[in-house]
Amino acid sequence: MRLFIGIPLASAVVHELAALSARLQSPNDGLRWSREEGWHITLQFLGQTSDEQYACVTAALRGIRHTPFEIYLDPPGFFDRSGVFFAGVRVSAELIALQQLVTAATKRCGFVPEDRPYHPHITLARDKGGHQGARKLKSRVPAGVQFSHFSAREFLLYQSFPGPGGSRYEVRERFEL
Ligand code: 2AM
Repeated sequence: MRLFIGIPLASAVVHELAALSARLQSPNDGLRWSREEGWHITLQFLGQTSDEQYACVTAALRGIRHTPFEIYLDPPGFFDRSGVFFAGVRVSAELIALQQLVTAATKRCGFVPEDRPYHPHITLARDKGGHQGARKLKSRVPAGVQFSHFSAREFLLYQSFPGPGGSRYEVRERFEL
């Protein structure tokens, strides 16, 4: 199974992002817009996971102690190289601490933490092919967009089901902060 660990969004934030997303979508825009029910902030992508690793990861994540904390969103942005349009997430000491606890926990189950810097974000759309869609979208993103902040009270273990229309995510485990 293909797994990842992430923080779900408060419903007020989902509504704000959905409004922006709806405003920016247009027919044949060359983008695959992500489903709002799957929006999350990834803490760690695990990828292919065996049953033994699943049990190990779940037990290790249950041992994490971290208090709830505020998450502040940054304005939308783009990963130019991959053609991804995202809502930014402000890097805070609490978020980094949680991300490091998560990667330390899963390391014990055989998952190697990525060595590139953690860049938290919420993927709203990605190019279907080529980078034309994201490039064209850039000029249409309104300046000064702001989103509410919210309190992160849990993180989740998700299973990803890739499909032709994009991936669908199912929540497998919940971990309270
Ligand atoms: P993305 O939205 O920027 O693609 C499930 O795929 C989640 O894990 C997504 O949030 C995805 O980020 C993230 N992720 C991180 N590394 C990944 C990888 N190598 N393959 C697939 N998803 C990855």
